[in-house]
Amino acid sequence: MIKVEHLAKRYADVYAVNDISFEVHQGEIVGLLGPNGAGKTTTMRILTCYMPATSGSANVAGYDVFRESINVRKQIGYLPENVPLYPEMRVREYLLFRAKLKKLPSRERKSKIDECIEKCSITEVQNQIIGTLSKGYRQRVGLADTLVHDPKILILDEPTIGLDPNQIRQVRQLIKELGAKHTILLSTHILPEVEMLCERVIIINKGKIVAMDTPTNLAIQLRAGNNLVLEVRGNGEKIKNALTNIKSVKKVVWQDKGEISNFTVEAEKGADVREDVFSNIVKNNGIIREMKQASITLEEIFHQITMREQEVTT
Ligand SMILES: Nc1ncnc2c1ncn2[C@@H]1O[C@H](COP(=O)(O)OP(=O)(O)OP(=O)(O)O)[C@@H](O)[C@H]1O
Ligand SMILES: [Mg+2]
Repeated sequence: MIKVEHLAKRYADVYAVNDISFEVHQGEIVGLLGPNGAGKTTTMRILTCYMPATSGSANVAGYDVFRESINVRKQIGYLPENVPLYPEMRVREYLLFRAKLKKLPSRERKSKIDECIEKCSITEVQNQIIGTLSKGYRQRVGLADTLVHDPKILILDEPTIGLDPNQIRQVRQLIKELGAKHTILLSTHILPEVEMLCERVIIINKGKIVAMDTPTNLAIQLRAGNNLVLEVRGNGEKIKNALTNIKSVKKVVWQDKGEISNFTVEAEKGADVREDVFSNIVKNNGIIREMKQASITLEEIFHQITMREQEVTT
């Protein structure tokens, strides 16, 4: 649905986007994740034909963004970073104005706007003046606007920025629902948002793609080994020695708390030592109170990747 190849955008002597290539397949929700100034908005502006690239190519729903921009715009619903609404207009009036602008045939306008209003849960404010809406509702009006011309693809630039936690949840839920029918590329620097919404993540830093995978695979890739965290009642020293002797166990960290001990068991990459750990503890008369796999959060992944890049480039 979206295919970007060797795309670059240069401002004076700075590359905002520097040779990026990626694809978004039909039906996917993909997150473009990166710190401030990474190049997220620049990439989205190029894809939505708001700005030409310096080099490279981008194709959206089969159309070239440089040569066939009118067709590309028809396929895309774009929610820009700062939603440009007309504050003096009423919600419904605004959506009607946008539908006209997007050349929706007049006989389809009413039903389409009704549908968007319902989808975005703005029925109760449809006759309210936009300038008097709360930020969350304005964001929803912005989303309703992206849907008016029934685009296949949604490009959402930080859709939940500036919203309170309840509104964030509601807007995320809405995006998730929209994901059932649309292909979505969204940008964010909120990591739980990506974990909740996206099937795939593209991490971008200083204009370059530094990682691209599912959130789960990124976690696996980066996990140096496989860490197990345990709480055990029994003879800590005996148990520590037994665990250390298990094949594939690289390291055991023992925290002695008297009758109870905490262990962190680091196994070789790809090795599953849970059953060996269990039987060795039982053999040494230990009682397992808890055993869990230490998980790495997307936040740690992001930190590791962006810091690693920094080390390489400096
Ligand atoms: N019109 C412009 N002129 C010069 N430099 C620009 C212009 N627009 C963007 N840049 C630069 O390009 C880089 C990427 O900016 P971009 O807005 O794409 O980042 P972003 O990932 O969207 O960041 P944020 O998370 O803050 O929205 C930044 O270094 C920015 O200063
Ligand atoms: Mg931005």
